[in-house]
Amino acid sequence: MLELKNIKLNFSNGNGTAREVLQDVNIKLEKGKLYAITGPNGGGKTSLAKVIMGIYTPSEGQVILDGEDITSLSITERADRGIAYAFQQPPRFKGLTVENVMKIAQPSLDTVQIRGYLRDVGLCPEDYLDRDIGPGLSGGEIKRIEVAQLLARQAPVSIFDEPEAGVDLWTIQKLIGIIIRRYKGNSRGMAIVITHNEQFLPICDEIILVAEGTVKERGTTEEIWPSIREDVICKMKGQCGGNVYGIQ
Ligand SMILES: Nc1ncnc2c1ncn2[C@@H]1O[C@H](COP(=O)(O)OP(=O)(O)OP(=O)(O)O)[C@@H](O)[C@H]1O
Ligand SMILES: [Mg+2]
Repeated sequence: MLELKNIKLNFSNGNGTAREVLQDVNIKLEKGKLYAITGPNGGGKTSLAKVIMGIYTPSEGQVILDGEDITSLSITERADRGIAYAFQQPPRFKGLTVENVMKIAQPSLDTVQIRGYLRDVGLCPEDYLDRDIGPGLSGGEIKRIEVAQLLARQAPVSIFDEPEAGVDLWTIQKLIGIIIRRYKGNSRGMAIVITHNEQFLPICDEIILVAEGTVKERGTTEEIWPSIREDVICKMKGQCGGNVYGIQ
């Protein structure tokens, strides 16, 4: 069980004032479940993932994993306890090859297994194993390698931050398939997929709507899709001073 209790996260506006990016986030997530987190840009989804991973330190609140308060633990200590995160914007590592970063993600991997994970994300191992993780890879290629690393970690808490971003339509289908096979009903762990992709939402056990720095709603697709849709339409009308999109 992963629990976030009364989480608040502030960032400085640079003029002496603080902006609350997360406010009173309370949520409990269970092993064996596949969760989707969705919501508008800037709503706090990535910040929430980074609080779980220990990249951001909340100004208030606690992160509890299997009964242990891990709020003060470092990223490495949390990784040792089984939390893993695939970045929305993966870093590049000039001088390291694809094979190197796969082995850093999971040192026990042999080359046959690395090839398998690359195939899982639709990359031909022969073409990629020796490629440098630098500017010579496209955005979608880097993204797929980041997802392959997270799959290889086999972590009890796996957080995918927009795995579909920049990835072609054919590969999105493949990623959905692999995430279902790995995580749906897998009692050893949970997966959290932060996504804006409508195809991901129905495959998940639960959808969590994060907006304005907090959890607005959670439920199955059927339960919360109508209100997500309503929310989106209201925002569009509000932002544009009229329903310029013509949505009924
Ligand atoms: N390191 C930071 N410093 C200052 N502000 C930040 C930082 N990280 C995030 N924010 C702010 O926090 C808010 C939430 O950002 P976050 O990246 O969590 O949104 P998101 O829901 O993941 O959005 P998107 O759908 O665009 O990925 C934004 O207003 C963002 O500018
Ligand atoms: Mg984000």
